[in-house]
Amino acid sequence: MSKKAPSVMDKLVSLCKRRGFIFQSSEIYGGINSCYDYGPLGIELKKNIKELWWRSMIYERDDIEGIDAGILRHPKVWEASGHIEGFTDPLVDCKKCKNRFKEDQLKDKEKCPVCGGELTDSRKFNLMFKTFMGPVENESNMVYMRPETAQGIYVNFHNVREAARQKLPFGIAQIGKAFRNEITPGNFTFRTREFEQMEMQFFVRPGEEMKWYEYWKEQRINWHKSTGIPAEKFRFHDHDKLAHYANAATDIEFDFPIGFKELEGIHSRTDFDLNAHQEFSGKKLQYFDPELNENYVPYVVETSLGLDRTFLAVLSHAYTEEKLEDGSERVVMKLPPVLAPYKAAILPLVKKDGMPEKAREIMDSLKMDFMCRYDEKDAIGRRYRRQDAIGTPYCITVDHQTLEDNTVTIRERDSMKQDRISIEEIARIIHERIKV
Ligand code: GAP
Repeated sequence: MSKKAPSVMDKLVSLCKRRGFIFQSSEIYGGINSCYDYGPLGIELKKNIKELWWRSMIYERDDIEGIDAGILRHPKVWEASGHIEGFTDPLVDCKKCKNRFKEDQLKDKEKCPVCGGELTDSRKFNLMFKTFMGPVENESNMVYMRPETAQGIYVNFHNVREAARQKLPFGIAQIGKAFRNEITPGNFTFRTREFEQMEMQFFVRPGEEMKWYEYWKEQRINWHKSTGIPAEKFRFHDHDKLAHYANAATDIEFDFPIGFKELEGIHSRTDFDLNAHQEFSGKKLQYFDPELNENYVPYVVETSLGLDRTFLAVLSHAYTEEKLEDGSERVVMKLPPVLAPYKAAILPLVKKDGMPEKAREIMDSLKMDFMCRYDEKDAIGRRYRRQDAIGTPYCITVDHQTLEDNTVTIRERDSMKQDRISIEEIARIIHERIKV
C-alpha cells in the first residue's frame, strides 16, 4: 500500500520539533492534546514578532500606552463583559457511544456521526477555564482564566489615561496569554486552548469610530505586509453577522497551509464594554472632552492579533523546498530577516590553523548587537544547510584568507550567493538587511 505524502503542515510540525521551534507539551508522558511548548528557536521567533508589534504600537507612536494586566481577574469582569452568559458553544452528546459534538458542526442534528446513536438536546458549554482562589474549592471562590486580554484594558481605562495624561483619541495595548476550553482545537498551533494575544483598544469620540475603524484596518494590513510577506497572502473578510457589542467587524485572513483563515480581528466595539463595566462596578468610566465641553463614555476600536497564529503564518510562508542546480535538495526557511531567530552564523572553515579563535572573536564583536550562532561541527556545506533550515539570513565564514587580510565570506541564505567583505563591514551589512 502506498504511503500518503506528508502535508506541508506535517512537515512543519516535524521541522519545528527537530530544530527546536515547537515541542508537543508533556511529550514524555504521551503529550497533552493541542498544548505546545516553544523551544530555543521558537522563543526567539516569538519574541521578534512581539517586538515588531510592540514597536509599531508603542515606540513609534505617542498615542498608545502599554500595560500587562493579570490573567486572573474579579469574576464580575466576566459578568459585565458577557463572557459568563454568552461565551459558549452549543454541545450535544451521543447517548450510546458518549462522544460529544459541537451542534453547529453536525450535518444531521438527530444522529451521532460516529455510531448513529441518538443525540441529547443541545446544552451551552462555557469556554472559560475555571479555577479556585484560596484553599476552599467552592462556587464563591471560583475565578476564571481570561479568555481574551481586552477586558484587562477596559477596566484599566481610567488608571492608564490618568497616569499617562492621555487625551482622546488614544489606545492601550498589551501582549499576554489567553485561555479557551475550545471544543475542537487543532491544526497545530492554529487553534489551541492556551495562546497569546496582542491586543490594542483605541478609545475615540462617539460618532468618529468608523473613521478610526478604517484607519486601523489600513494600519494593521500594512504592518503584516511590512515583514516582506507578499500582499496576496492576506485578505479582509468583513463580518455580515455582528457580535452583540460591535457595529463593524472584519478579519485579516492569512493563506495558511489549511487555506485562508482568520489571523487578526478588527472590531468597532462601540461603548459596549466600558458601559457594561460602568454599570457592574458602579464606577464612572467617562471622559471629559474639553473641546465639546461634555462627558461621554468613549467608543472603542479594537485590533486583536493571535501571536501563535502569526508565528504559524510566518513559519508556513517561509517553509521552502528547493531543488538545486547540482541536483541536490534543500529545505530553507525564508523568514523575514527581522524575525529570524539568528541573524548570522559564524563558521570557521576548518577546526584548526587559528580559524576557530578568529571566528570566536567575530562572534564576540557581534553578539551584543544580534543573536548569532557559532558552529564548527561538520563540513561547511552541512552547516550551511543547518542554518538554511532555521532561517539564518547570513553565514559568515572564516577561512585561510581571513587570517591574512581580515576578510570573510558572507553567504546570503536565499540566493546562496557569497561575497568577500572585510570584518568591519559585517555589522553594517546585517543591520541594513534586518531593517523593516
Ligand atoms: N478581544 C477580541 C478577541 O479576543 P477573537 O477573534 O476571539 O477576538 C482574536 O480573537 C485573535 O486571537 C484571533 O484572530 C486569533 O488570532 C487569536 N485566537 C483566538 N482564539 C484562538 C485559539 N483558540 N488559538 C489560537 N489563537 C486564537
